[in-house]
Amino acid sequence: NNHLVIMAGGIGSRFWPMSTPECPKQFIDVLGCGRTLLQLTADRFKRICFPENIWVVTSEAYADIVREQLPEIPESNILKEPCRRNTAPCIAYVSWRIKKLNPKANVVVTPSDHIVMDVAEFERVITSGLVFTSETDSILTLGMKPNRPETGYGYIQADLGFASARNKEIYRVDSFKEKPDFATASRYIQKNNYFWNAGIFVWNVSTIVNAFRVYQPAIAQVFEQLMPIYGSEQEQEAINRDFPKCENISVDYAIMEKVEEIFVLPANFGWSDLGTWGSLHEHTPQDAYGNACIGKNISVYDTHNCMIHTTQEKKVVIQGLDGFIVAEKNDTLLICKLSEEQRIKQFSE
Ligand code: GDD
Ligand code: MG
Repeated sequence: NNHLVIMAGGIGSRFWPMSTPECPKQFIDVLGCGRTLLQLTADRFKRICFPENIWVVTSEAYADIVREQLPEIPESNILKEPCRRNTAPCIAYVSWRIKKLNPKANVVVTPSDHIVMDVAEFERVITSGLVFTSETDSILTLGMKPNRPETGYGYIQADLGFASARNKEIYRVDSFKEKPDFATASRYIQKNNYFWNAGIFVWNVSTIVNAFRVYQPAIAQVFEQLMPIYGSEQEQEAINRDFPKCENISVDYAIMEKVEEIFVLPANFGWSDLGTWGSLHEHTPQDAYGNACIGKNISVYDTHNCMIHTTQEKKVVIQGLDGFIVAEKNDTLLICKLSEEQRIKQFSE
């Protein structure tokens, strides 16, 4: 009954030039471990869900890459979006699609750009979440303990005095705030009841479908009226015609900020959104001077706190840099202060 949905249609623009619209970060072996982020995501669920219940929602342009990287999942489980509309339409499409097959399906939705250090603990937490949502009609989020006022994440305010009767580890959510400004985030992290939204959701398929009906009726209508054609030969054509009608909105704004009752399961499994060069810098073994080097032939002198990434067998020598990103791919070379990395999005356009 367990299904897994992997959202893999983002373009990872803050990770340019490693991540490009032709091949975004989720399809790259970012860590240099032999598996791409998408493959690592599917690997983490090996003991939780059968391959025939794994769904990947992505852009039409990436379908071949997904098929190649995850040959174990059925072709018909790769859902292709004709255009990017962010995560709300992505989740709505796959939810109606799964509901047609199995209205009782218990679903985990996950991004494809995260790393998890403690996979055994991850399995325990997800399994505990799946048990909870199979018994209740609830939306469950995973909360990560914040350690900095990150403005790129959503924040969950938990009511730590209100644990669920079914699972003492799970709390009711007081409020959900997607990507607050710096001052607000700084205020949140002073308290002990705010968590980062990991972007991983657990629910029964009927619960999320109903939430769309209530809070996003226009999106719900698009996928409701396609119910008869899911799984048929006309599916792709109908999706290509109707999917673009959906509003471009993330599930966090569309649903999470709006629903009355959500739950949070605070968890600690060494999680990170590998969203920027800075986060890769943090998660790559560093030399004694804080330099993280990924590449075949890199030498550094008098250099500190740098993230250096090369993809070709090019000799790279760096002297005297402090706090920089040096990243090279094909015909592009980026040299940028780590502290200015949020601007990379703008350079890549
Ligand atoms: N299929 C599909 N279509 N997937 C998409 C699309 C789309 O249009 N847009 C994004 N995705 C995928 C991305 O590839 C990624 O795996 C996931 O959905 C999340 O999108 P991001 O763009 O990376 O979101 P974010 O990091 O800004 O914010 C979300 O994740 C944070 C934690 O990583 C939010 O859920 C935040 O609240 C959360 O803290
Ligand atoms: Mg992300």
